Amino acid sequence: MALISFPKDFLWGTATSSYQIEGAAMEDGRGESIWDRFSKTPGKVGDGTNGDVACDHYHRYREDIALMKSLGMQAYRFSVAWPRILPTGRGKVNPKGLDFYNRLVDGLLEAGITPFVTLYHWDLPQTLQDQGGWPRRSTAEAFVEYTEVVARALGDRVKNWITHNEPWCISLLSHEKGLHAPGLKDFRQALAASHHVLLSHGWAVPVIRAASPGAQVGITLNLSPAEPASPSAADYDAFRHHDGYFNRWFLDPLYGRHYPADMIADYIKAGHLPSEGFTVVQPGDLEAIAVDTDFLGVNYYNRAVLRSDKVPEEKNHPRTVHLAPQSEWTEMGWEVHPDSLRKLLTRLHVDYGPRKLYVTENGASFSTPPDAQGRVPDEKRTNFLRDHFLAARKAMDAGAPLAGYFVWSFMDNFEWDRGYLQRFGIVWVDYKTQQRIPKDSALWYRDVIKANGVQVP
Ligand code: FCB
Repeated sequence: MALISFPKDFLWGTATSSYQIEGAAMEDGRGESIWDRFSKTPGKVGDGTNGDVACDHYHRYREDIALMKSLGMQAYRFSVAWPRILPTGRGKVNPKGLDFYNRLVDGLLEAGITPFVTLYHWDLPQTLQDQGGWPRRSTAEAFVEYTEVVARALGDRVKNWITHNEPWCISLLSHEKGLHAPGLKDFRQALAASHHVLLSHGWAVPVIRAASPGAQVGITLNLSPAEPASPSAADYDAFRHHDGYFNRWFLDPLYGRHYPADMIADYIKAGHLPSEGFTVVQPGDLEAIAVDTDFLGVNYYNRAVLRSDKVPEEKNHPRTVHLAPQSEWTEMGWEVHPDSLRKLLTRLHVDYGPRKLYVTENGASFSTPPDAQGRVPDEKRTNFLRDHFLAARKAMDAGAPLAGYFVWSFMDNFEWDRGYLQRFGIVWVDYKTQQRIPKDSALWYRDVIKANGVQVP
């Protein structure tokens, strides 16, 4: 065996989000969020469940921190539930909500675990949704007020901040495709939402810096490394559009390049934008969005291979890019493709030049249950993580400034529209008893962290 090692100060951790793990949805003054409303609307969540109890982390956070510590975790990325802090979105602060995150942060620091706080991981206060939600500019203003409250309360101890988790999901998945809360299907509103999410990021960064001296601030995107299925012009165009829709639409403005012109043209042509263009953008917005950040967070799960639907299959160039065999797909139906993580990190470094990169989420859904001895032999997850760690290491060899890696997820949790059937955790959660069992992948990860590297044959 040989050890593929990582730089000395490389950070190893795991990630979660508030609505997916906390539970205690009606406790200590927490207001309603769009996910409470959405998950309780029949037909929205596959198994009919919701986050009312989830992993009961709100009550069990001490035990969870102790488990993280025993696994050697160096960092933990979690999110703050906006409706715990400002139950109706703006105005009156709920001190009990802040108390919870104060205790959590103190507990992590005592355990020697560095907190990475995500301000928005999708649980918008329902009151703000009732006033129009992200398609409205006032929600961006409300986000800045909320950010200031949280950064002032935690900013003396928290030094790593992520404004938003996955603007594509917040805007397009939730407002165009309607698969996540608030469940709208309106492309124009979705595009307006995307702009207001990015704008609120741009406005929030200086507010965080002012309240948290020395803070490192960034944003997390879910990126979709893509390739055309063949070298045909039609497949290339499908690839271009996909890359624009998922990746460049967010990366370009964040790195000072305006929204991509080819996408604006596509959207006008398709009637998703008026002929005058992207009219929600006001003077000064693009400068605000392009604020300098300390890092870019990358959530990577799978790649996309694009085949044109504009040319009949028999007239198109034969496929030259093939998908992985059926055995190499996770239970989400996502292809396992570690090399796309290498390509993605390298491309970000070359095309956008972020100061630093973190993989803020990467992981796999496999539902392997405990065996008769109470062990969880989730070898597929271990293999998945090993291959992705090694791919990330190769990107670092090519110059990508990757500074840390957060496995999604610390424990099994509420997987949004899929409910509890998809299990991403390296720790098994028995939802009846709330017992936690570190899976084999967690024990393997503990050894990786200890060695600061991956053993390969
Ligand atoms: C990401 C989300 C995260 C989790 C994983 C599987 O899109 O950020 O909360 O659901 O997918």
